[in-house]
This record gives sequence, C-alpha cells and structure tokens, in this order.
Amino acid sequence: MLNPKRIKKDFPIFDKHPELVYLDSSATSLKPRPVIEKLLEYYTDYTANIHRGIYKNAEKSTQEYEDTRKVVAKFINAKRPEEIIFTRGTTEGINLAASTIGLDSIQKGDEVVVSRMEHHSNFVPWQQLAFQAGADFKVIELNESYELRVMSYESEKLIINLGGVVTKRTKILALTMVSNTLGTINPLKEIIAQAKKINPAIITVVDAAQAVPHMKVDVQDLGCDFLAFSGHKMLGPTGIGVLCGKYELLNKMSPYQYGGDMIRQVKIEETTFNDLPHKFEAGTPHIAGVIALKESIKYLEKIGFKNIREHEKNLTMYLAKALSYEFPNLIKCYGPRQIGHMGGIVSFTLKNLHPHDIAQILDEDNIAVRAGHHCTMPLHDFLGVPATTRASFYIYNDEDDVDKLIAGLKKTVKILK
Ligand SMILES: Cc1ncc(COP(=O)(O)O)c(C=O)c1O
Repeated sequence: MLNPKRIKKDFPIFDKHPELVYLDSSATSLKPRPVIEKLLEYYTDYTANIHRGIYKNAEKSTQEYEDTRKVVAKFINAKRPEEIIFTRGTTEGINLAASTIGLDSIQKGDEVVVSRMEHHSNFVPWQQLAFQAGADFKVIELNESYELRVMSYESEKLIINLGGVVTKRTKILALTMVSNTLGTINPLKEIIAQAKKINPAIITVVDAAQAVPHMKVDVQDLGCDFLAFSGHKMLGPTGIGVLCGKYELLNKMSPYQYGGDMIRQVKIEETTFNDLPHKFEAGTPHIAGVIALKESIKYLEKIGFKNIREHEKNLTMYLAKALSYEFPNLIKCYGPRQIGHMGGIVSFTLKNLHPHDIAQILDEDNIAVRAGHHCTMPLHDFLGVPATTRASFYIYNDEDDVDKLIAGLKKTVKILK
C-alpha cells in the first residue's frame, strides 16, 4: 500500500507550502528530494561535458549519463540501450519521429492516422507532415464513453475493429496510451497488433507521456515502433525526455539535428554520422536532467507501479463519486465510466461556471488544478465546450486533497452563482 502522507515528506515543496493541494500532475509532477539532490550533485561534484574529456569528472558524468540510458532501457523493457534517445520531452520525441522517418516514408496518397483525443504534440506534427506530403490525415473518432470508436466490448471481451480507419495505405499510426484530458487508457497493444496485421509496414508511434509515470509500460509487449515520454511528468526534471525506437528503424533513419557528438567524421566533401544513439543526440544535452531521471525511475520503482495504479484508481473513483453526489445537477465529467479504463485524471465542467473562474477561486485556497483545453482542442470540439477543469493525481495525493477540492468547489459555486 502506498502512503501519501509519508511520500509527501520526500517532496520539499510541501515544506515551503504545507497547505498546497497539488492536483495538476498531468501538467508536471512535483520533484522528490533524491531527484533534486542528483541535479545538485552533478553541478557541484563533477560538472563536465560527456563523451568528450578524458579527465576524471568527464568520465564520471559520461558514466552517470550512460548508466541512465541503461536504467531507462530496463525500465520500459527496450531491447537494447541504444534504442533510448534522450530528448527534451515527449514533444521533441514525436517531432523527431515525424521529421525523420515520417518525412522519409510518407508520399502523396498515403495515410497518417491519429485520434481525436491526442495532445497537440501528437496531433499537429502528423497533421503538418500529412499536409506537406499530400497524404490523407485521418482521425479516429470517439464513442459516447469517451473511448476510441474502433473498440467495443462483447461480454467484457475487447473487440478492435480498425476496418476502414487503418488500411494498407496507412503509413503512420500515432496514438496516445492515456488521454491527458479524459484519462482514457487505450488498449494500444491490441490496436497495434491489428494495425500491423492490416499493414505490416505501418509505423506505430505511442505517446506515453501520461502512461509511463503511472503504469508499467513494456515497449516489447506493446509491439510499437516508437514510444515517447517526458521526465518532468514522472518526478524528473523539466527539459528531459525519451524517444524509444526500434533499433533497425533508428539505424536507417536520417539524423534529426546536425552538430557535435552526432558525427563520425566531417570533411569538406562529406560528413558521416555516429552510431546509435549518438546519431540523434546532437550538441550538449541536458546532462544533469538525464542523470537525475535515473533517480525518479528508482523512486517510482521502489513504490511499485501496482501500488501507484491502485492508489490513483481509488482517488479517481473517490473524486468522481463525490462530484456526482455533491453537484448532481451541475456536474458533467468527461471520461470513461469503467474504472479499469480510467487513469488518474478527472476533467469536468460545472454548469454555467467558467473553468478559469473555478481554477482562480480554488487557487485562493491553494488548490492547484488546470483549466482550459489542456492542449486538446480537437477533443474539446467533440466535447462541445471550449474548456474544462482538470484534476490529476499522483503518489503524493490523498483523500484529504479530494475533500479540499470538493469544499473549494462548493465555495466556488456559492460565489459564482
Ligand atoms: C498526452 C501528452 N502528450 C504529450 C505531451 C507533451 O509533453 P511535453 O510538453 O513534456 O513535451 C503532454 C503534456 O502534457 C501530454 O499530456
């Protein structure tokens, strides 16, 4: 069992702001002491660039950096550490894939498929790629349970039907594992398997920004070609992320950026490129960020993803029930009904109250929630509202936080009505 009160003690922000009710971990998570200390350790003990110097500190920083690559590979069960490319975050990972393998493989008449629930980071790069190449940009719609329309259940058995959506002409299928607005968990293993049956050459890209921090993700089990996530949503530093790609694909892809460290030899006549993963890591990376990411993984694994998932399920259910009990005629929640299909995210509207007003009044009581379109404008078109209020949970939240949110919402309704 996970103990949020104990866990809170590891997060120095609560020493400074003991009253903080932080319900915005989908935007970014708070940082525990081991992660902050690791950042400090690099800057105070062995600052040096990596893969260059042969003095002690340069060797130490290179070793810490490359150790992290191994830790990340093991964490998501990549076949080999060379499949792990450090990026600035999910956005850069997806843009890397779109502007290398995407650009190289898409031609006029091909199809690029995403879903309506994608974050703009996994929507716009593919949309723009399709537009540039003259390819068809197709969007998987949602059903009334806020799940992908290509899935249904027959007596609990999951049925996937990609017929018509994914075809032999589909070159890219890019989907989120967990929606950052609805909390919907998509059955990507089954979807990817079916897509590969329809077109074995399809390239599948998984946006795992809201999945990797909250549940065990295994890239080999998923069967995807690429998977991207961000460090800052999983207790790690901002400005660091991972793109995991299949070795054979990464190996034949053109570089994303040019510069130091990604080359083997540069001559006036020609340049040859470095081996994986360095081919995709041009310039000096966020060394401290990478090194500290290792600590966030250690911290999460110590708690255990079974515990994390269970904890978030309980809080999600507790909040969903409280909202419908306290605001029966006002509340509308946007997300799946079955708890097994929901991540730790609840987005809602309260009749005639603007989400920004709600968030502002909650902030007076130090309750941090997100209000807006959460970088999912096509999804909000489907929801029929320009904005929602979103509460998202992580390991440091507990039922007291939910009770405070409910009390804050009651106060908000009184003020605004
Ligand atoms: C599902 C999803 N994808 C992509 C992103 C983009 O992540 P980043 O801003 O860290 O690149 C986010 C961030 O909120 C997200 O929730």
